[in-house]
Amino acid sequence: MFNDLSSPAALLATRRSGKPRDMAAPGPSPDQMTRILDAAIRVPDHGKFAPWRLVIFEGEGRNRAGEALAAIQKYRRPDLDEASLNIERRQFLPAPLTIGVIFSPRPNTKAPELEQLLSAGNVCFNLSHAAFALGFAASWTNRWYGWDPEAQTALGARGGERFVGFIHIGTPTAVIEDRERPALEDVVTRF
Ligand SMILES: Cc1cc2nc3c(=O)[nH]c(=O)nc-3n(C[C@H](O)[C@H](O)[C@H](O)COP(=O)(O)O)c2cc1C
Repeated sequence: MFNDLSSPAALLATRRSGKPRDMAAPGPSPDQMTRILDAAIRVPDHGKFAPWRLVIFEGEGRNRAGEALAAIQKYRRPDLDEASLNIERRQFLPAPLTIGVIFSPRPNTKAPELEQLLSAGNVCFNLSHAAFALGFAASWTNRWYGWDPEAQTALGARGGERFVGFIHIGTPTAVIEDRERPALEDVVTRF
């Protein structure tokens, strides 16, 4: 198993992302889902007004999301072949669960927008950690639909909002190799 769950410190030291294509059912049970969501929203939040919300893509919702993305591409490029459209239809299929994190900034508050955005990013990473802690693989992706305004609306963002991450979660089907990490001396200095 790639998840070292022997202690919280071991978990933090070994967490790594799995690829959605190396994920399969089962996803989290309803109880595990609640634990993951509870952990995810336990983030620093300067204004304490939760400038983020979460959208769950599971079951048939994964197909509907993929169809919406394929429809956008088909509208823009009517000549697009079936194989390319199928890639869009399958965007949410490899993982049994994807949780989208929407950044929903509140203007004119004591916390500047950048701080609110950082809070939303923490929700994304907390989702990854919580899933990992329960033995699942997780992957934070944005892909084209994480930046495309029309796709964002189709997936659930409202005016002034945007997705900042899609966290794919599933049972790992392969050992997840770690990637190279920066050397501490390259990224840490003393003041
Ligand atoms: C905001 C953000 C967006 C990302 N979007 C993508 C993406 O669209 N596609 C991708 O393959 N990886 C994407 N990644 C990187 C994956 O999360 C990658 O698997 C990760 O950096 C692996 O490192 P880890 O093992 O430390 O998690 C993104 C990462 C971040 C922070």
